[in-house]
Parts: sequence; structure tokens; C-alpha cells
Amino acid sequence: MRSLLITGASGFLGGYACRLLSPYWQIWGTHNTQPVTLPTGDSIALDLTHEPSIDAVWQRVKPDAVIHTAALSKASQCQQFPDRSYRVNVLGAVHLANRCARHAVPLIFTSTDLVFNGTTPPYDEAALPAPLNTYGRHKALAETQILAAYPEATVCRLPLLFGPQTPTATCFLQNFLATITAGQPLTLFTDEIRTPAAVTDVVQGLRLALEQNLTGLLHLGGPQRLSRYEFGLLMADSFGLPTAALTPCRQSAIALVTPRPPDVSLNSQKAFALGYAPQNMETALRAIADASHLTSAFEACCC
Ligand SMILES: NC(=O)c1ccc[n+]([C@@H]2O[C@H](COP(=O)([O-])OP(=O)(O)OC[C@H]3O[C@@H](n4cnc5c(N)ncnc54)[C@H](OP(=O)(O)O)[C@@H]3O)[C@@H](O)[C@H]2O)c1
Repeated sequence: MRSLLITGASGFLGGYACRLLSPYWQIWGTHNTQPVTLPTGDSIALDLTHEPSIDAVWQRVKPDAVIHTAALSKASQCQQFPDRSYRVNVLGAVHLANRCARHAVPLIFTSTDLVFNGTTPPYDEAALPAPLNTYGRHKALAETQILAAYPEATVCRLPLLFGPQTPTATCFLQNFLATITAGQPLTLFTDEIRTPAAVTDVVQGLRLALEQNLTGLLHLGGPQRLSRYEFGLLMADSFGLPTAALTPCRQSAIALVTPRPPDVSLNSQKAFALGYAPQNMETALRAIADASHLTSAFEACCC
């Protein structure tokens, strides 16, 4: 089997990618602070802020392909720690891409819809990035530098992802359920629009990009444009929870420390034409709710 290095195996997307792609590839996963056990063995330590660490992982794995999901992925953290964000999200990513370029190893770099400013949606691959916050700026910079150094690389721009928590990572769904279950109120924006997608579907999109040898940009958004408030109603409905605690609100009513674009809906027609087929949010949420009584909904969603 060909070897696939998946950075960020302890993260939300990387955890799913390691599980779902293990039937097809010999998987090597990395962690930074949270070691994980993968179907193929223990994860390897990686520090993207330290080039020798990247080189050591490379020497050990000698991958046939790379999916780079490791990142400082929370926009608020990047805003607060811009130096660390730059070192992880730009310098580390570009160093890894240079390695891939030197050895002609296919690379999928996972970027974000937050490279856009949200004023002219929906965004296809021809749209120009205009990020509003540090996270989006650093991801956009990494995209440009990676494609300049290695035009054969693939940059997949991802939307908000959801799914059951992994042993070491969560997504917005878990915070939402915890808040509502605790009976606390939740204010959700009606004018912040996204194209969310189930993490399992996005992994299949990454696989498709890898196996079809795509190069350049690819958007892997979900099929629907929904506001945060609309996702809240769908999540509550799917899990049989009350909606009374959900309060609709406009972005302008709240002073945001990290600027957030209003509508970064992705146009993913290019990926749809290639066979990427994300479920709509109702279907995906109902499947997650049905699996939620199991000891490991994560494992169930990976079968
Ligand atoms: N989740 C989303 O909704 C979403 C949306 C759009 C784009 N994306 C992109 O998708 C990718 C994965 O996101 P995610 O939500 O899965 O992220 P995540 O759950 O926060 O996981 C981040 C991963 O990166 C690792 N990491 C952090 N700092 C590192 C460092 N200095 N050196 C090496 N590894 C480091 C973490 O390791 P430890 O946990 O072991 O410390 C973890 O494995 C990111 O590139 C993100 O920008 C995600």
C-alpha cells in the first residue's frame, strides 16, 4: 500500500481522515500535544514551528502523498497569537510543501472559506481572497506561497465542518449541544451565512482530490447556504432539543474581537462535477443524532 502522511491526526478533520482513508492507504498520522492511537499504530510527534521536526517526520515516513490538516485552526487563537499563527499556518505549511515539491509528492493543503471577506458570495475558485482576520490572512498567504513553490499541490478550501467528536477533538456541534442541554441561552447570528458540511463527506472530497491528481484550488463546501441561527434550529430539531433558548441576533449587535465575514458561502460546483457529494445538513445531522447513543459515535461514523 502507498503511504499517506496526514498531519493533525489528533485534530477533528485529521482524526476522521486517518480512519476513513486507512482502507486505501498506509496511514501515518501526526500530533502536536495529544498523541493518538490510529488503526495503523501510534501517531508521530510533529512541531510545525520547528523545521527539523518536519524534516524528521519526513525522513521517518518518506510519504507517497501528504494531506496537511495540522494548523492553528481557531480564528480567535490566531487573532490573539499572530506570531504563532504565522509560524504554524504559513512557515510550517510552506516548509512541508517545499519538501513535497522537492520529492514530487502529491500534497493536499486544507485551507478555509475565511480567506474571503464575505461581501460577494458565493465564492468559486476564481474569486480573489480578501481575508478579514489573522487566521484567514495567514491561510491565504500559505495558499499563495504553497502554489508558487509547488504548482502541482492542491489547495482545498473547506467550510465549517461538523460530526461527532473524536477522542481528542470537537467541532461547534458539541459546544452547541452542551449549551442547550445545560439549559443556557444561545444567541445565534441570522446574517452570518455558511455552507457547512459533514466532516465524513469532506474527507471523501479530499480523497477525490488526491486520487484524481487535481492541482490548484478546489472548494469543498456543503450543498446549502444557512445562517448560524438556521443551523441552530436544525441541530436542536435533529437532537430533539427545545429551540426556545435560541435567540436570533444580527452580527452588528455584538462587538467582535475577531472580525468575521458575513457570508463566505462556497460555490463547490467544480467538486460536485468531479463526484463530491456532501449530504444536506438535515440528513447528516439525523445520522449523527441516531449514532449519538453509541459508545463511540466517531467510530460509527467511520464505518
Ligand atoms: N474544523 C473546521 O470547521 C474547519 C473549517 C475550515 C477549514 N479548516 C481547516 O481544516 C484543517 C483541520 O482543522 P481542524 O478543525 O481539524 O483543526 P483542529 O481540530 O484544531 O486540529 C488541529 C491539529 O493541528 C495540530 N497542531 C496544532 N499546532 C501544531 C503545531 N505547532 N505543530 C504540529 N501540529 C500542530 C493539532 O495537534 P494537537 O491537538 O496534538 O496539539 C491538531 O492535530 C485546518 O487546516 C483548518 O484550517 C477546518
